Amino acid sequence: MDGPKLRCNERAITVLVVLLMPLALPTVLGWGKDGHYAICKISLEYLSEDALFAVKQLLPDSAEGDLAAVCSWPDEVRHNRHYRWSSALHYVDTPDFKCNYQYCNCLGLFIGDCHDSSGHKHRCVTGAIYNYTMQLKSARGDASSELKYNLTEALMFLSHFVGDVHQPLHVGFTGDLGGNSITVRWYRRKTNLHHVWDDMIIESALKTFYGSDLSIMIQAIQSNITDIWSNDISFWEHCAHNYTACPDRYASESISLACKFAYKNATPGSTLEDEYFLSRLPIVEKRLAQGGVRLAAILNRIFTSNKASIAQA
Ligand SMILES: *[C@@H]1O[C@H](CO)[C@@H](O)[C@H](O)[C@H]1NC(C)=O
Ligand SMILES: *[C@@H]1O[C@H](CO)[C@@H](O)[C@H](O)[C@H]1NC(C)=O
Ligand SMILES: *[C@@H]1O[C@H](CO)[C@@H](O)[C@H](O)[C@H]1NC(C)=O
Ligand SMILES: *[C@@H]1O[C@H](CO)[C@@H](O)[C@H](O)[C@H]1NC(C)=O
Repeated sequence: MDGPKLRCNERAITVLVVLLMPLALPTVLGWGKDGHYAICKISLEYLSEDALFAVKQLLPDSAEGDLAAVCSWPDEVRHNRHYRWSSALHYVDTPDFKCNYQYCNCLGLFIGDCHDSSGHKHRCVTGAIYNYTMQLKSARGDASSELKYNLTEALMFLSHFVGDVHQPLHVGFTGDLGGNSITVRWYRRKTNLHHVWDDMIIESALKTFYGSDLSIMIQAIQSNITDIWSNDISFWEHCAHNYTACPDRYASESISLACKFAYKNATPGSTLEDEYFLSRLPIVEKRLAQGGVRLAAILNRIFTSNKASIAQA
């Protein structure tokens, strides 16, 4: 007797689930969780004692002392209505088919374009990196700014956005929403180009080369930092004019890599397989390395005092 009714309910549930699915699917717009985790883990290796101490003081309890545990927090809250304004801070769109990036904090004077869709100035990933660097810095030696800003959030935002600005398609073209509207196949799966760079390349690498173990992938990247890129580290860390952070430079590199590697041979409808995967993976791994090393350099400059440093960012 209950049978048909149950089936009916089942159908209703199925319909409900199908209807709700688009809401439940995360709109991923940042390195995925793995990418952010890797960048923050790598950064921990390069933090000074002072910086590590300051970071631990600011972390929320949920992090249990590990910065990497909360590096995806801005992705988790961006759809919460209190944080919806922060959505635009994860990327900066550049004019279509232009492979250079023009926005800079040129000695305190902002030149170029960085805004959200309602025109709020400096609401983009590079502007946000300046913003949160300034907040964390100003709190040093000024107790009142500890009250003005939530420095726990500033730390989590900064750590996340330094990662995002290193993902080439976070500095992609406006017309295709940084690759989000370019539908492609990743092997058999239908997805979009932005998602390929946020997640799929890392996901496939984990399965193919690292026994699905993220910590092994992170170790491999760390070995490359010490063995292969060791001479580049001081160049990666450096900011002109002794700035604490120089996101304009990271963004310029990203759009250049987006043109050379991400967009290349990835036209709408194309199928991306081994050739694309194997040639782009080293780019992704190097960007994760650079993101980690630079996040540490920025935090070291913020929290290790007495270094002469002009400018507010
Ligand atoms: C700077 O950070 C504060 C606090 O999160 C935020 O309210 C403000 O909109 C941010 N400004 C920019 C330009 O990102
Ligand atoms: C600062 O932000 C964190 C994370 O959102 C939150 O848990 C905490 O309550 C905030 N602190 C204050 C003083 O508002
Ligand atoms: C390490 O560097 C080599 C040489 O550039 C590169 O082929 C390889 O993909 C890199 N591996 C990682 C994990 O970064
Ligand atoms: C940057 O800082 C170093 C050390 O504090 C100082 O010697 C150098 O002159 C500074 N450079 C600029 C361009 O301000």
